[in-house]
Amino acid sequence: MVQASIRSLKGKDLLWLVDYSVEEIWAILETAKMFKQRFYSGERIIPVLNGKVLAMIFQKPSTRTRVSFEVAMYQLGGYAMYLGWNELQLGRGETIADTARVLSRYVDGIMARVYSQNDIVELAKYADVPVINGLSDLVHPVQALSDMFTIWEKKGRLSGLKIAFVGDGSDNVLHSLLLASAKLGVNISIGSPKELRPNKEILKYAEEAAESSGSIIEFYEDPYEAVRGADVVYTDVWVSMGQEKERERKVKLLEPYRVTVDLMRHAKKDALFMHCLPAHRGEEVVDEVIDGPWSVVWDQAENRLHTQKAILALLLG
Ligand code: CP
Ligand code: NVA
Repeated sequence: MVQASIRSLKGKDLLWLVDYSVEEIWAILETAKMFKQRFYSGERIIPVLNGKVLAMIFQKPSTRTRVSFEVAMYQLGGYAMYLGWNELQLGRGETIADTARVLSRYVDGIMARVYSQNDIVELAKYADVPVINGLSDLVHPVQALSDMFTIWEKKGRLSGLKIAFVGDGSDNVLHSLLLASAKLGVNISIGSPKELRPNKEILKYAEEAAESSGSIIEFYEDPYEAVRGADVVYTDVWVSMGQEKERERKVKLLEPYRVTVDLMRHAKKDALFMHCLPAHRGEEVVDEVIDGPWSVVWDQAENRLHTQKAILALLLG
């Protein structure tokens, strides 16, 4: 484990993790741990962002991201405002650049959930305040950071562990898990149909990071081979937001990749089951697994709150 000496990432955007060093990622994980410990010691309000405001722009629905960021800002002494894309003038054609310039005059940070990664990059380019990606079609960095915190918390270490991601190999959450794992020395095996493989640019960055961390990235078409020796079995929905037209094709391709009790029994005995949620029960995972002894999905969801606090405190503080 790299001991993080970083106390602030003031002003930095969080768009897709590629530009985050191992030390910066550890600073977020350690800060999340501190916030969680203090929360459980009864310190709910730690006003390090007293008077600060976060604008949260949503182009797609959200439960966890919206609520955890909003609660995090409140408990850090700040305020968060929900802004639906179509309720802003953005929905009527005001440019992203102009929106970024104006919001920067009012708020201390912007979190946005968008379809296109280019839109969040554009927002960050013109904003004078930090921009945090709350999911795009390409990546979901805040989810992956929180998941690394959960794995570290449950297993006591990260480097050398193996995550098996079973399902859609082109998934946005997988892309962020790939980047985070490769940076932190976590091995990752992907069990997916050959038609659904990661974005080439993301994979290239992950492979570069893996070269220095020693992380191993493997691909299998057979989900049983993918989970062999895995410490964590991870899946996500087969049809992400915005892909509704591809439902039929994807469900057909992904049918053999459902996480079942039998599949879990092929991973390590003490393997965890993780899912970013929302789950499509009966599709990518059966009830017996998500509600079973392997599952840590509720702790995983809770940890979004503690990790969000860490990200906000470090970037906006
Ligand atoms: N995992 C996650 O980001 O959930 P929401 O879509 O509910 O925010
Ligand atoms: N891959 C999913 C993640 C939801 C948090 C989606 O984009 O819909």
